[in-house]
Formats: sequence, C-alpha cells, structure tokens
Amino acid sequence: MKILDVGCGPGTITIDLARLVPQGAVTGTEPTAAQEPVLQQARETAAQQGITNVTFSVGDGYALPFADNSFDVVHAHQVLQHVSESDPVKMLAEMKRVVKKPGGIIAVRECDYEKMTWHPPSDGMTRWHAMYQRTARANGGEPNAGRVLLSWALKAGIPREGIETTIGTWCFASQADKEYWSQTHAERIISSTLTESAVKHGTATMSDLEEMAAAWREWCAAPDAWFGVMHGELLCRV
Ligand SMILES: C[S@@+](CC[C@H](N)C(=O)[O-])C[C@H]1O[C@@H](n2cnc3c(N)ncnc32)[C@H](O)[C@@H]1O
Repeated sequence: MKILDVGCGPGTITIDLARLVPQGAVTGTEPTAAQEPVLQQARETAAQQGITNVTFSVGDGYALPFADNSFDVVHAHQVLQHVSESDPVKMLAEMKRVVKKPGGIIAVRECDYEKMTWHPPSDGMTRWHAMYQRTARANGGEPNAGRVLLSWALKAGIPREGIETTIGTWCFASQADKEYWSQTHAERIISSTLTESAVKHGTATMSDLEEMAAAWREWCAAPDAWFGVMHGELLCRV
C-alpha cells in the first residue's frame, strides 16, 4: 500500500501509518523548503523508531509533485483549517488527483474550535479561544473546519456516495494529557507563528498573550481540569 500524508508536520502520524503497512511505503510532505527543519526532525524520529518505509519531502498540497493515481490512501490531518476559504477545496481536488481511482481513499480530519469546551471556567482561556478564532480567520483559515469538511469535499468533486462522515473526540484529563495539552497551547500562544499573527492582526497584545498562556498553565494545575475537542472526519472512497 502507498500512503501520502499531506502537511505531515513532525511526522508522528505519518510514522504511525508506516508502522501499520510494513510492506508498504509512506510519504509525508510539507509545503516548502522553509519546512525542511521539521521534515528533518520527522526523519530523525523515524530513524530512532526503526521505521524505514517512510520518506519525508517537500510537496505543496496545492501542487503535489506526484503523478495522477499514485497513492492508495491520501491523508491530511489538521491541515485544511489553515488554508484560506476557497483553497481547502483546491487542496482536496489535488488530493483526489493523486489518489488511485477507482478504489483509493482520501482521509481527512479537522477539529472544530467553537465546539471545544473545558472545565473549570477560565476567563483567560475564554479570551484565548476568541483570540485564536479571530486570528485564524484573519490569516484566511477556518477554525471550524470540522463541520465544513463534507461541504468542501463535495465542492472538490468527490462523489457523495463514497463519503463516510464521522466525528472524533479528544479528552484531556489525565495528568500527563493535561500537561501535554496545556504546555502545547501555552507555548503556541507566546512563541509561535500564532503569536506573530495575533500581534500583526491586532487580535491581542503581547501582554494579553502572556495572560492567556498563564491561564492555560493555571487550568492544568486544577485537580478537576478537563478539556474536550470535537473533530469532523471524512473517509472518501473515490
Ligand atoms: C497543525 S499542523 C498538522 C501536522 C500533522 N498533520 C499533525 O496532525 O500532526 C498543519 C500542517 O500543515 C502544513 N501545511 C500548511 N499549508 C500546507 C500546504 N499548502 N501544503 C502542505 N502542507 C501544508 C503546515 O506546514 C503544518 O505542518
């Protein structure tokens, strides 16, 4: 089986896919040479785990450097929400071009920010939630991509009869999960492209962002802390 993971990031999912198909071949791509450091990190993670049937290369989801009908499965996880409003459709059409027809599968999952929920209540996290969605939209993304996936797939010309729609959920409540989730967000708020975008678009000042990151850390310290995420998912047989 040949699998393509578009927008693979650090490659953790790509490597898991490769483990599932030991006699197959998995390719992970990131859009430009500027992402070479993250691709290199993914290669090193694969090598550390002894996974040899995975390769990581540059490949823009809008113009994938592969022939038509190349892959049995084309996968993208939390990628389509970051691209501007009409472009998710273009990317899905490109994924459709490179998947084998008939019989190939396009698999996508996107979260739905508005449907995230947590306990205990936190003003700082409520402000983060609003800031994130405003910033993502100012960047041309769709933070509620989970609910729009089916619509995008239909616009991309994927036949409705082959599409299976499901909802996936994540729950962060164990100590290890809360620490991972709160650290991830606290860092993303104050030292990532989100930080730059928020300041650039005026959706938060640096001191607002510091307060939001602190609120995430406080949330993690609560013994009853709980966070739920809903995702929209599609499996499309083309
Ligand atoms: C939230 S990360 C998800 C990474 C990975 N799929 C995961 O779930 O762990 C989104 C990724 O999409 C990539 N991306 C953004 N625009 C892209 C494009 N035009 N083509 C391919 N990947 C793209 C980003 O570089 C980033 O690594």
